[in-house]
Amino acid sequence: MDAEIGIIGGSGFYEFLENPRTIEVDTPFGAPSAAPAVGEVGGRTVAFLPRHGAQHQFPPHRVNYRANLWALRSVGVRQVIAPAAVGSLVPELGPGAFVVPDQVIDRTWGRAHTVYDGVGEVIHTAFADPYCPRGRATVLAAADQSTPLVDGGTLVVINGPRFSTRAESRWHAAAGGTVVGMTGVPEASVARELAMCYTTVCMVTDHDAGVEAGEEVTHAEVMRVFANNIERLKSLLLRVIADLPGAESDEAAVCTCRRVHDGQKLPFP
Ligand code: ADE
Repeated sequence: MDAEIGIIGGSGFYEFLENPRTIEVDTPFGAPSAAPAVGEVGGRTVAFLPRHGAQHQFPPHRVNYRANLWALRSVGVRQVIAPAAVGSLVPELGPGAFVVPDQVIDRTWGRAHTVYDGVGEVIHTAFADPYCPRGRATVLAAADQSTPLVDGGTLVVINGPRFSTRAESRWHAAAGGTVVGMTGVPEASVARELAMCYTTVCMVTDHDAGVEAGEEVTHAEVMRVFANNIERLKSLLLRVIADLPGAESDEAAVCTCRRVHDGQKLPFP
């Protein structure tokens, strides 16, 4: 059975799925972080893929983003919701805030970042608006009193796994960044290359280095704040899963994200 919705997130989301089954998938880019698990969530068929692997063994620069997206598409997914932990680059957004960005700045390097890697003719994929307009609208509509959402903002994606220096952080803020993370690209851009709708939901876990002159961000603090807010994120995602549009048969009528290759021959199925 095809999955209607894909979730890429931490391994805590496994427990979402009723009657999960793991589907081994071959991809032209090697193995995904883990085989997608497909199950039911409130009557919808959802595929879950832990971004960093079932044992959290892949750091951000080692995640096989291409294989992850390909694997999800292979089990039928055409719309992805991708939660991620981020630091805040602006004073007004502190730990526990949730942001639904509408832009991204790619500061990563050395990552396998495109499916156009010498096979077939390249298509220069449109990416001016990196996130799915329908997915963003659905997520924003699922906000409630306990989990208000910030509509829009620019996610800066650094290579990691180290955090930014204070100077880098000030630079990212001066460039227009709202939040900073390590996994947003090439996840979003490969999704677009594969004509999939992709929406990210960012949970702020810290003020990044430049915002406050005091404490620097630490791994332990990020994990602590993430754990404290995970239940709010999960309930938000349950509402989003219930509200996302179904898998329409007429793909072309569906969404601009899925029409990105209109009239062009793809080098993949
Ligand atoms: N993820 C969580 N906090 C972060 C930060 N400050 N920088 C980059 N990635 C993060």
